[in-house]
Amino acid sequence: MDKRPIGVFDSGLGGLTAVAEIMRTLPGEEIVYFGDTARVPYGTRSKETIIRYAEEDVEFLLSFDIKAIIVACGTVSSVALPVMGEKYDISVIGVVKPASRAAALATKNKKIGIIGTTATIKSRSYECEILTNIPDAEIYTAPCPLFVPLVENGRVDPDDVVLYTMVEEYLAPIKAAGVDTLIMGCTHYPIIERAIAKFMGEEVTLVNPGEAAVRYLKEESEIEKNEGEHGSYKFFVSDDKEGFLENASKFLGGKLSGEVSLHIVGK
Ligand code: DGL
Repeated sequence: MDKRPIGVFDSGLGGLTAVAEIMRTLPGEEIVYFGDTARVPYGTRSKETIIRYAEEDVEFLLSFDIKAIIVACGTVSSVALPVMGEKYDISVIGVVKPASRAAALATKNKKIGIIGTTATIKSRSYECEILTNIPDAEIYTAPCPLFVPLVENGRVDPDDVVLYTMVEEYLAPIKAAGVDTLIMGCTHYPIIERAIAKFMGEEVTLVNPGEAAVRYLKEESEIEKNEGEHGSYKFFVSDDKEGFLENASKFLGGKLSGEVSLHIVGK
């Protein structure tokens, strides 16, 4: 049994979708979470900047005695994971492979939609991964750059007019293509899953990348688990602790147990 914590990071709130899944399915695990709220969003930035931010995030998490890192960010997993996998001597688990595999297993008509940040869609990361699983899959993609700021500002209600208008605009071509599976390729998007599901209809399977990565960690990775009773949690953000606390508690169903501290970046 390895009692060391798992490090989890994202540009902001999105990685909490992975944290929620760890809390649910691996309740003994300790977690150190970092949300880079001072520099969110990552998905509209250049590859070089995303890699630099991701390295700083990882180095911060490595200052704790962690046993593995979950890159709970579709953008960093798409753009920086190959670089990080080589650079660090620790298990680094991204969301792209597990989510793509989950989609490949879920689809019946081989029509798969992928939504994500601009950087993620441009990288074609999920697309390439799906095509290695299903070479004749039909893939429909759409960048949804306004979803992350909406989530970070707490606009997550499916009846929120601004949110739902954006959902309709971004997803209409994917829905019209007749996909039966949709990868919510940015970890912020499961926070607005109810709005996405309302528009896509219940017959479309929605893949949550944070959940898929944690399932991989639990069921397939060789990382030794912590079978203790109840893990403890440490949260760090690079700005606006109060805003994070409010939104995170709402998202985790009032269950944000653990301290939230500030970690200033880019000094
Ligand atoms: N949660 C991040 C992702 O999965 C959001 C990226 C951003 O900050 O734009 O891509």
